[in-house]
Amino acid sequence: MKTEQKKKVMLVFGTRPEAIKMAPLVKAFQSLTDRYEPIVTVTGQHRQMLDQVLDLFNIKPDYDLNIMKAGQDLTDVTSRILLGMRDILSDNRPDLLLVHGDTSTSTAAALSAFYAQIPVGHVEAGLRTGDIYSPWPEEMNRRLTGRLATMHFAPTDTSRNNLLKENVPDKNIVVTGNTVIDALHIVSSKIDTDKDIADKLDKDILNMGYDLKRLSGGRRMVLITGHRRENFGDGFMNICHAIKDLALKYPNIDLVYPMHLNPNVRRPIAEVFEHEGSRPDNVFFIEPLDYLPFVHMMKHAYIILTDSGGIQEEAPSLGKPVLVMRSVTERPEALEAGTIRLVGTNRDKIVSECSRFLDDQAYYQANKLIANPYGDGTACLKIIDYIDKNL
Ligand code: UD1
Ligand code: UDP
Repeated sequence: MKTEQKKKVMLVFGTRPEAIKMAPLVKAFQSLTDRYEPIVTVTGQHRQMLDQVLDLFNIKPDYDLNIMKAGQDLTDVTSRILLGMRDILSDNRPDLLLVHGDTSTSTAAALSAFYAQIPVGHVEAGLRTGDIYSPWPEEMNRRLTGRLATMHFAPTDTSRNNLLKENVPDKNIVVTGNTVIDALHIVSSKIDTDKDIADKLDKDILNMGYDLKRLSGGRRMVLITGHRRENFGDGFMNICHAIKDLALKYPNIDLVYPMHLNPNVRRPIAEVFEHEGSRPDNVFFIEPLDYLPFVHMMKHAYIILTDSGGIQEEAPSLGKPVLVMRSVTERPEALEAGTIRLVGTNRDKIVSECSRFLDDQAYYQANKLIANPYGDGTACLKIIDYIDKNL
C-alpha cells in the first residue's frame, strides 16, 4: 500500500454467477476497513437470482441500478449499465473498480470506468475458447474487459498464458485460483457442519418439488441446468428430448432440472413436456434453487448435465462428473483432469455419454475426486495481497 489513506474499491456485479464469485471478495474487503473503503454496486442485470445471493452472504449494496427487464437484449443491458454507471462514478470516484468474468455487466461497467479514467481489475481474467460466438457474447465480453483492465486476476496458469499471448504485461497478472471455490468452501462447510441446516435444505428442496428421500434406497439423480444463449432454439429442444429419452431408458434414475428464469430456456421445456402424460414421472422441473440448496443438490447428484461455466469449476471439489452441453469450453483444466466431458447439444451424444456414466462403474469411479484445478479457497486473499502491493 503506497499511502496511509484508505483506498476506495468499488465491486460491480449483476448476475447470479458474478454475485456468487464476488461475494467472498466483498466480505474479505469488508473485514479490512482499516485499509479499504469497499463500495458495492449491483446492476440488477438479474433480479431474483442476484438478490438471493446478496441475502445469503448478507451484502447490502451501496448502489443498485435495477436494470432488469423481462426479455432484455444485449443492447438494453449494456446501454442501461453505461448510463447508470456514468452517474455513479461521477458521484463517487473509486481508486479501483473490480468486475468479474464475462457478462454484459462486467464489460459495460469496465467500459464506464475506462471512460471515467478509473483503473479496472478483472477477476476471473484470461479465460478463452478462441471462438467469439461460443459462448456468445461471453467470449467477446471477456476479451474486451481484458483490454480495459490493468490488473488481471487469472484463476489458473492456462488463463495467465492466454493473457501473455495477448501481450498483457506479466507484472499485471497474478494467478489466484477462482473465487468460486472460496464461495463453495464457505457454503459447503455450513451444510457439512450443521445438521439443522442440512435438514432445513431437504425441506426447502421438497417444497420446490423434489424429495431427496427418493435417493435413500440407492436411487441415483442426474442434476441438470442450462441457460447459454448460443443453445437457444434447436439446442434446447435437443436437450429436452435427450432428457426425455434418458428418463424413459432409466426409470430408476431421477432427472432434476432447476430451470433458469430466462423465458428462452423455459419455452422449449414447455413445448416438449406440455401435453398431459408427456413428462415421465422421474423428471422434475423446479424453480431455480438458491445457492445454498443448489450446493446441497450438487452433493446428492450422481452426474451433472449442464452448460454452466461455474458448475464446471465447482464440480471437481465435490467429486461429481460433469457432462457439458457446449461445443467448446474455456475451462480446459477440467477437461484435461477428466472431470468434465463435452457433449454439445446433440441428443444422441447426451444420451450415450450419460448412459456410459450410469452403466459403467469403473468409468464413473475414474472421474471421482481430484485436486480442484480452479483453486483451494484462497483466491480472495491472493487478490487482496496483489491490490495491497500495487494500488
Ligand atoms: C446472463 C449472462 C451470462 C451468464 C448468465 C448466468 C450476459 C449477456 N449473459 O445470461 O453470461 O452466464 O447470466 O445465469 O451477460 N430473469 C429473471 N430473473 C432473474 C434473472 C433472469 O426474470 O433473476 C429473466 C429475465 O426475463 C431476463 C432474462 O432472464 O430478461 C435474461 O437475463 P440476462 O441476464 O439478459 O441473460 P442470462 O441468460 O441470464
Ligand atoms: N446455481 C445456483 N442455482 C441453480 C443453478 C446454479 O445457485 O439453480 C449456481 C451454481 O452452483 C454456480 C452458478 O450458479 O455457482 C452458475 O450460474 P450460471 O450457470 O447461471 O452461470 P455461468 O456460471 O454459466 O455463468
